[in-house]
Amino acid sequence: MRAAQLTLWPETGQPSRREAETLSTFIDNMRQPVHRWFRFAAGYSGEWVRCLLEDPSFPPDGLVLDPFCGSGTTLVSADQAGVRSIGLEAHPFTVRIASAKLAWCCDTEAIAARSRLILSRASASRGAVEEYTSLVRTCYPDQILQRLDALRCAWREADDGSAASWLCWLALTSILRACSPVGTANMELIQPKKHKRAPAEPLAAFSEAIWQMQADIRSFRRVGARPRAAVLRGDARQCPEVPSGCADLVITSPPYTNNFDYADALRLEMTFWGEVTRWGDLHRAVRRHLLVSCSQHATAERLQPEELLARPEVQPIADELRPVVHELAAVRTQRGGQKHYHTMVAGYFVDMAKVWKELRRICKEGGRVCMVVGDSAPYGVYVPVHRWLGVMALAAGFSEVRFAKTRDRNTKWKNRKHRVPLLEGQLWVDG
Ligand SMILES: C[S@@+](CC[C@H](N)C(=O)[O-])C[C@H]1O[C@@H](n2cnc3c(N)ncnc32)[C@H](O)[C@@H]1O
Repeated sequence: MRAAQLTLWPETGQPSRREAETLSTFIDNMRQPVHRWFRFAAGYSGEWVRCLLEDPSFPPDGLVLDPFCGSGTTLVSADQAGVRSIGLEAHPFTVRIASAKLAWCCDTEAIAARSRLILSRASASRGAVEEYTSLVRTCYPDQILQRLDALRCAWREADDGSAASWLCWLALTSILRACSPVGTANMELIQPKKHKRAPAEPLAAFSEAIWQMQADIRSFRRVGARPRAAVLRGDARQCPEVPSGCADLVITSPPYTNNFDYADALRLEMTFWGEVTRWGDLHRAVRRHLLVSCSQHATAERLQPEELLARPEVQPIADELRPVVHELAAVRTQRGGQKHYHTMVAGYFVDMAKVWKELRRICKEGGRVCMVVGDSAPYGVYVPVHRWLGVMALAAGFSEVRFAKTRDRNTKWKNRKHRVPLLEGQLWVDG
């Protein structure tokens, strides 16, 4: 039987221009308790998620799923609203960031005690720089790196796997970019020629991050937040660990086909913690677990265009996908970089078809998916991502699809690579 239809925003009211422009960005989260513990540029607005979950049509004791939970925005907002949630994330480092944020219910005294221990040990130690890779040493003068190393060693010595320990790990991870005097724009490659005027001092920045965590935990308690989230390291394309028919609502945003490399985005943090040493390690350690959404992934996996186009998963869009893939294959031969965008795009839709199949299994009858998506134009060849994802959702067994545009993209920057207008918005899928 069909459950009562959800009537969530935006049908109940259109967003203001500012809301529309910021809901798909992390900007507002940097002022929100717990969300602000790690700046995750690829994230969306926690306030927007909370609005959806507090809509009266969301069923009492309903469950929300985010199959691409990233830094945990959906799950943190669900805890804030007292709603049950499950998040999946395939990037091993990102899943640790989300898990640490979900330890917000930790005792503030335990965090204070552990951070005091770490700070006192770090203050008494000189720290060493020799074992760090050239990437890390390019980012920090020896004096700063010695203090970061002292904190890292003190954290490791004191680590007991407790929630307080993971929050201290997150505090140290979150200050790494602020402590570097070179350009370390959030989730971008290191820019050694750019300089920050006033990089943070590591011990002071660590103390400040811990202080902020304690304040945010108290604020979450005051508003009656409840720890009801489960975050799993898993794959949205195949996730048997999530039971069938359990989700009332899915709120999510998958990677876009815009060549953003999620593996490279956290390279500085992963290298600091010794999880990778060279750029070449990223594929083995991270990228191979993710959806195909960047050309490095397609190249490393040696994806073959005709093989991908013949896959049953993409048949619902094959007539439109084929000419786009062929055009990208042709354009590539005229470009210096010769990027594998043709197999990136084909591989992306094969993967997303699998995601829709899993979502159909996991969503209740009458449940709803709200997916924040953006289209793309690699080498200036337009890919109507939102439309094709809609077609694939229907092919997977959902009954209705609508797209609500929230903002235009690729309109402002003088140095943009192509002039194809792009958009971003919400794909609302009912089933
Ligand atoms: C757009 S981000 C989501 C950000 C999130 N909404 C937030 O606010 O933090 C997409 C996420 O999907 C993850 N991802 C990529 N492939 C995945 C897969 N196969 N299964 C689960 N997660 C995946 C990426 O690592 C990235 O963190």
